[in-house]
Amino acid sequence: MRTQVGIIGAGPAGLLLAHLLHRAGIDSVVIETCSRTYVEERIRAGLLEQHAVDILTETGLGERLRREGMFHDGVELRFDGEGHRIDLHGLTGKRVTIYGQQEVVKDLIAARLAAGLPLLFEAEGIALSGLDDPRPRITYQSADAEHSVECDLIAGCDGFHGMCRGAIPPARLTTYDRVYPFAWLGILAAAPPAAHELIYARHERGFALATMRSPTLSRHYLQVAPEENIAAWSDDRIWAELHARMARHDGARQINEGPIRQRGITAMRSFVTEPMRHGRLFLAGDAAHIVPPTGAKGMNLAIADIRVLALAIEAFYAGRGEGLLDAYSTIALRRVWNAQRFSWWMTSLLHRFDHEDPFEHKVRVAELDYICRSPAGAMTLAENYVGLPLELPV
Ligand code: FAD
Ligand code: DHB
Repeated sequence: MRTQVGIIGAGPAGLLLAHLLHRAGIDSVVIETCSRTYVEERIRAGLLEQHAVDILTETGLGERLRREGMFHDGVELRFDGEGHRIDLHGLTGKRVTIYGQQEVVKDLIAARLAAGLPLLFEAEGIALSGLDDPRPRITYQSADAEHSVECDLIAGCDGFHGMCRGAIPPARLTTYDRVYPFAWLGILAAAPPAAHELIYARHERGFALATMRSPTLSRHYLQVAPEENIAAWSDDRIWAELHARMARHDGARQINEGPIRQRGITAMRSFVTEPMRHGRLFLAGDAAHIVPPTGAKGMNLAIADIRVLALAIEAFYAGRGEGLLDAYSTIALRRVWNAQRFSWWMTSLLHRFDHEDPFEHKVRVAELDYICRSPAGAMTLAENYVGLPLELPV
């Protein structure tokens, strides 16, 4: 088989790249290890920056997003038992949108299959070769047969645990890594959201986040120990902890309880690979970098990488040479490091550190107070949270 761009991974990054390339008249093949059901039901990110909503809408994927997305103009920070609203739209003119990652993935898969374009699930033994040659290859097995795809370019969009990053000789990469001393326990519950907008709470028992997926589905996260066993968390314990961490001085209860439909624990890590290119292989999304989820940046960064990469690939096929392909990693990494900084900052500000001394605690609370009282402080959070302006190659 022969294609122009071979894409490894059918997450938001890989599927969006295939979609944008198709609209530009460029062929691609998407190869994924998991099943379609698994990929469509994996519950992860929920918050889209404006640029992500814009690209999905502008390229024909906005219909369900417009109908089911929940558009938020602000966000609440809660600490010392009080809530403080940050007016995102008033400060930046932008808003954020709640629309589950699996919904984005479903929309992208439906568009690809409706167009009759190649998207292969449950492939095994995927391997890359000839990355320094003009015609690199992807080999894989499916239905007990061995397949080989000859490409011009390969996009490694196979997430943090994928194989593409490992296909690059380690001596050609520099990696930056930080593991945080806590994890998030996330639940999806059949109950109305706590409030119209998201609530990020700092509490002496640990961080908590109240978010949502629809008017009848709540999503909540709790800071827990990294080695925490999910079996130790009964429904009652989860609800009690959420009520305690979200408590307000006026005693008003906000979290609505309901049947827990899904639960899981996610480790927290910052990780960056530089550069995001080796020969004809381009890494994008979680394959190249991950952030702790506090700033809601992971999927948005994956989408931003793809917008830059898609334009560079278009320029390559338009006969403009490899200049933009060469610039891809530098442009993408600028945004990645800004998002890393913001995610690390939000995480440090809102989580409980076991060995935090009383002075550090007071300084963090003072910083939260500054963000909530000073327009400059609020803007620092707001402009990063809604997403910094997107730099595109020209
Ligand atoms: P992935 O979504 O990981 O997709 C990679 C795909 O490649 C997968 O389908 C995988 O099965 C496949 N794959 C793996 N190995 C191979 C292989 N060898 N060959 C072929 N295919 C392979 N981000 C936000 O922006 N906002 C949020 O609110 C947010 N909240 C989050 C909450 C949680 C609890 C978690 C865990 C993450 C959150 N994120 C958030 C991060 C976000 O989910 C990721 O950044 C996003 O999934 C990255 O997309 P991707 O396409 O790069 O990678
Ligand atoms: C969601 C997840 C996040 O990490 C975040 O910061 C905001 C929202 C979510 O799953 O809805």
